[in-house]
Amino acid sequence: MELFTKILFLCLALALTNGAPAAPQDAAVDDGDALAALPDRCAGIEFDAIAPDEEGDTFFFKGGHLWKGYHGAAQLSNESFKELDDIHHIGHVDAAFRMHNKDNPDDHDHIYFFLDDKVFSYYNHTLEDGYPKEIQEDFPGVPTHLDAAVECPKGECKGDSVLFFKGQDVHFYDIATKTVKTKTWSHLPACTSALRWLENYYCFHGHNFTKFNPLSGEVTGAYPKDARNYFMTCPNFGHGGDYKGRKCSDVKLDAITSDDGGKSYLFAGPIYMRLDSHRDGFHAFPIVRNWKEVARGVDAIFSYTDKIYFIKDDQVYIYKEGAHYTLIEGYPKTLKEELGIEGRVDAAFVCPNEHTVHIIQGSRIRDVDLTATPRVVTLDLPLPLSDIDAALCGAEGINLFKGSEYYSYESTKILSTGRIALNPQKITSAMMGCQD
Ligand SMILES: *[C@@H]1O[C@H](CO)[C@@H](O)[C@H](O)[C@H]1NC(C)=O
Ligand SMILES: *[C@@H]1O[C@H](CO)[C@@H](O)[C@H](O)[C@H]1NC(C)=O
Ligand SMILES: *[C@@H]1O[C@H](CO)[C@@H](O)[C@H](O)[C@H]1NC(C)=O
Repeated sequence: MELFTKILFLCLALALTNGAPAAPQDAAVDDGDALAALPDRCAGIEFDAIAPDEEGDTFFFKGGHLWKGYHGAAQLSNESFKELDDIHHIGHVDAAFRMHNKDNPDDHDHIYFFLDDKVFSYYNHTLEDGYPKEIQEDFPGVPTHLDAAVECPKGECKGDSVLFFKGQDVHFYDIATKTVKTKTWSHLPACTSALRWLENYYCFHGHNFTKFNPLSGEVTGAYPKDARNYFMTCPNFGHGGDYKGRKCSDVKLDAITSDDGGKSYLFAGPIYMRLDSHRDGFHAFPIVRNWKEVARGVDAIFSYTDKIYFIKDDQVYIYKEGAHYTLIEGYPKTLKEELGIEGRVDAAFVCPNEHTVHIIQGSRIRDVDLTATPRVVTLDLPLPLSDIDAALCGAEGINLFKGSEYYSYESTKILSTGRIALNPQKITSAMMGCQD
């Protein structure tokens, strides 16, 4: 069941980002002195390299050690990437990135490491045949002794590319043409590591990071920020939308939706979370980041024909989908004007390939034909439930979320003709990283 899997991923991620520290056996060190010498990423260190692997686990490197994911203890890098440094014994990685090159399945999703003048290519934590190579052999024109590297797929950059950082210089490497263009971004701090995460680009420097535009280097917003507030779990440091300590019995969603592009979003208070991107880990963001007009929170959301409809009080806000969500001109409009309904909306959903929005208000479910002008309620039925918070329809059916529980129905027909509510299933700590 797809939604359940998504929620489970979310929950695992929340558990990862907010849960208890990993058991020390993860460190794979058996003598006490070595254990004592493990670096602590909450002490404000500067990372040498950061990159996700093909599974979406993000690795943070410092000296001969690495951290896997957003919490847990350090371990020796050569435990995860055995051959790294076998030859050089320099004890650190200069730069790393995850290759994005779908045209070449033999390279796509490989994690590349740069050490002095050598490059290593790993997949499934296995060093590819022929590696390490000279950087020049694989990436002609790219300098040795790099500071940072990050992949930039077509669409975000002109073609599938890699950005290599050395000092204030950025070398744009075009994967298809194997050509390099160099720019100097003197306004950006010298990056010691760089990461692409959820289509955003981050330059890490000291214990801080700065988000930048991969084409122009432009920085918008209040940067630098302290990495310990965002990319790891540290005592006394904050975390995006802080769910830490939240009791499972207190979980309450406001809205949930999946857009046509396959992105899924969950909203709760002033934060949202992407559910579809488990390869990049999960994280809560302030809504204001994408949709500033509804920053305080929403009542209901649904997606229809490349647009996301947000309902807050008696207003409807429609945003275009895509990397830069823009509010469509003329919005917000009233519920009455846009959908032909009035009163508070609890939840709303559109099933795939359908043109009807199902709007839940109290213990009624009202259908509105989205192809009609003006829009009017075409069906108004009692619901065997009330006080629903959020609803989602996917290929596998409908889920209605109510507080810390959810109900699953196979179809809208079963939902609206069902006289008795099904047994709810409980959101657990394993699902949402909350405290049981
Ligand atoms: C990993 O590196 C450490 C110290 O650099 C070394 O003692 C150890 O033997 C290495 N382990 C492997 C599996 O190569
Ligand atoms: C990944 O590597 C492990 C051994 O390290 C192997 O058992 C497994 O089959 C590999 N998986 C794939 C998909 O190649
Ligand atoms: C980190 O950023 C803060 C401002 O947010 C700044 O005061 C501090 O000097 C920076 N530290 C480093 C090591 O870059």
